[in-house]
Amino acid sequence: MLRLENINKQFKGQQVLNSLSFEIKKNEMISIMGRSGSGKSTLLSIMAGLQAPDSGSIVFDEKQLGVLNEESLASFRLHNIGFVFQDFLLMPSLSVYDNIYIAAHPRKDIAKTIKHQRVTDLIEKVGLASKAKQRIDKLSGGERQRVAIARSLVNKPKLVLADEPTGNLDASTADDIMSLFRSLHSSIETSFVIITHDEHIATLTDKTYQLTNGSLQ
Ligand SMILES: Nc1ncnc2c1ncn2[C@@H]1O[C@H](COP(=O)(O)OP(=O)(O)OP(=O)(O)O)[C@@H](O)[C@H]1O
Ligand SMILES: [Mg+2]
Repeated sequence: MLRLENINKQFKGQQVLNSLSFEIKKNEMISIMGRSGSGKSTLLSIMAGLQAPDSGSIVFDEKQLGVLNEESLASFRLHNIGFVFQDFLLMPSLSVYDNIYIAAHPRKDIAKTIKHQRVTDLIEKVGLASKAKQRIDKLSGGERQRVAIARSLVNKPKLVLADEPTGNLDASTADDIMSLFRSLHSSIETSFVIITHDEHIATLTDKTYQLTNGSLQ
């Protein structure tokens, strides 16, 4: 479903990605490891069309991202990609429900009643039914990440990109979050890319790649 071919990216003469090629299939859940500064976050943003590579192609469901302008890329992301970050990036003073709903808000093609239904279902799926009206800043880190995961799925993306989703959580909460990813993965048709520093977390995915010297092994 997503194919990167011969991606090169440099910053001020530093070659961060070097003829990198990669493919993730529909419904696959993979992890990417690599030392700090190896280019993992850069790679993720290229997969999402947030940054353009210097050269190489990104093919998402047979469509070339390179030919799209900023507006088309934004629409592409809205329809196809969900994001989860290490530091959650939620709105602290808004409720669990509202944080998930606002991700669906820009979708003009989905009726409000459907959005409401999806948000409610996702809150249930991530185990926060009793906290739907709770403000984010009253939640634990693990609960916040559950909200972020629900938010990432509200537009039924084909691909979820997670940049160190367990990086701010203790080991047992990290395991809970990985169990949640796995159970969601078995019940919905979405591919997951999970960046992690943690060997154990990586073993919980279908396949692990190492980002070394600008390419994936
Ligand atoms: N916008 C930018 N401008 C200049 N250099 C950048 C930019 N973005 C990333 N870099 C550099 O590219 C390299 C890779 O950065 P990146 O954030 O992708 O690494 P990472 O593998 O995600 O690291 P970490 O594990 O610490 O998150 C680093 O040397 C970084 O300084
Ligand atoms: Mg990073």
